[in-house]
Amino acid sequence: MKYLALALLLCVLTSLSNAQCLFKVRKPDTENQTHCQDGVDLTWHPKETKWRNSVCQDCTCDQCFYGYSTPWKFPKDCVSMFDPKACRYVIHKKDDPSVLCPVFAAVGK
Ligand SMILES: *[C@@H]1O[C@H](CO)[C@@H](O)[C@H](O)[C@H]1NC(C)=O
Repeated sequence: MKYLALALLLCVLTSLSNAQCLFKVRKPDTENQTHCQDGVDLTWHPKETKWRNSVCQDCTCDQCFYGYSTPWKFPKDCVSMFDPKACRYVIHKKDDPSVLCPVFAAVGK
């Protein structure tokens, strides 16, 4: 989880101008003629299909995208919390989690 956060941070820092942040998770030895394996879940998927894995990546056999946007510009008195169930970030006030904050910019979809 620590490494995922680091990868996300690097991704945000290096791709502010890109619409999407790309991670390749497929390893070369985890495919056969008809299927490939999700590098995170170790599940097998037919080629030419898309799936969402347990860390919210939208994958094909070629690559995985993070299926959510990463907010990087929001008011200073707010914090971002990742909701793994909804696969998205929720930004709320530091001192009051029930007050949501506006996001000025996000990386991703
Ligand atoms: C490829 O791997 C999948 C999942 O293990 C298996 O169902 C499929 O039969 C395999 N296909 C070939 C051509 O080996």
